[in-house]
Amino acid sequence: MKVTVKVPATSANLGPGFDCLGLALPIYNMITIEETVLPGTGIEINLMSENEVIDEMIFDNVPKDENSIIYKAVEMLYNSIGQEPSELKINVQSQIPITRGLGSSASVVVGGLLAANKLLGSPADTTALLSIATEVEGHPDNVAPAILGGFILASQEDDGSIITEKLNWPEEWDITVCIPDFELSTNIARSVLPENVPMADASFNSKHLAMLIQAVNTKNEKLMKAALHDKLHQPYREKLIPGMKEIMEAFKHEDGVIGCVLSGAGPSILVISHKYDLDKIKSTVRDIWEGQSIKTDIRTLKIEPNGAEIIEE
Ligand code: HSE
Repeated sequence: MKVTVKVPATSANLGPGFDCLGLALPIYNMITIEETVLPGTGIEINLMSENEVIDEMIFDNVPKDENSIIYKAVEMLYNSIGQEPSELKINVQSQIPITRGLGSSASVVVGGLLAANKLLGSPADTTALLSIATEVEGHPDNVAPAILGGFILASQEDDGSIITEKLNWPEEWDITVCIPDFELSTNIARSVLPENVPMADASFNSKHLAMLIQAVNTKNEKLMKAALHDKLHQPYREKLIPGMKEIMEAFKHEDGVIGCVLSGAGPSILVISHKYDLDKIKSTVRDIWEGQSIKTDIRTLKIEPNGAEIIEE
């Protein structure tokens, strides 16, 4: 038996929502798991990318055995029902650029879990799958929108349980995803964060996250513009992302640009705008990055509403 799952890209954090906000985007990875009948063939993992030039070298460094995150997630699911995975062939057809802050690892974890769950006769519900995916990823802000679609507030509570809440994203607010041609691993982007932050910075983020939630609920553009600021992660990551400061500066006083935030751990940047010239966003970002010899892929995208979907059994 063979199951294929289509999983969207995600953008986490949205400025002040560090480790708890994320939205799904219509760029997809397809994850197929096949139970092979030949005993002793073990695990086979194949990665194929549409961005061959960019991703080929990165793929060479991604584990394709029992150490891969997709295998770890699948193994945890099998173990949760007292079984061990054995002869599995896993194929990942990837459109989501890797190590760009667009949830590519969350997508393969989610795709692997949903496919394996289907192969096992669906023993786990969405809550259980979310919980395993969060354990593998370390935080729920990419895996939750990857599974559920839309714009999601997600929290892993102290007892391990996951709370998710779908939020409204005003249709008329455009999301322009600016992807540079350099990679930044989440591990490195997390390693520059401090163990502790000043109380004033924690308070800054809680105020701004509260503003953001109210702003999307009431489609309040002015409040959203005030909300899209962060002191918990972006200032520390700025030094890892050439051009980030200049891009954020360039849009700071533009009417119609609601805000500019790091996508997940970066290096991609989201520009959120309303009735603003989207070509101007593209040319501004392109000029800054290309001025530093960084090639760009810039797309204005709608939020993906549905999340992961089983498309073939
Ligand atoms: N919230 C995570 C971070 C997202 O900022 O590190 C990246 O996976």
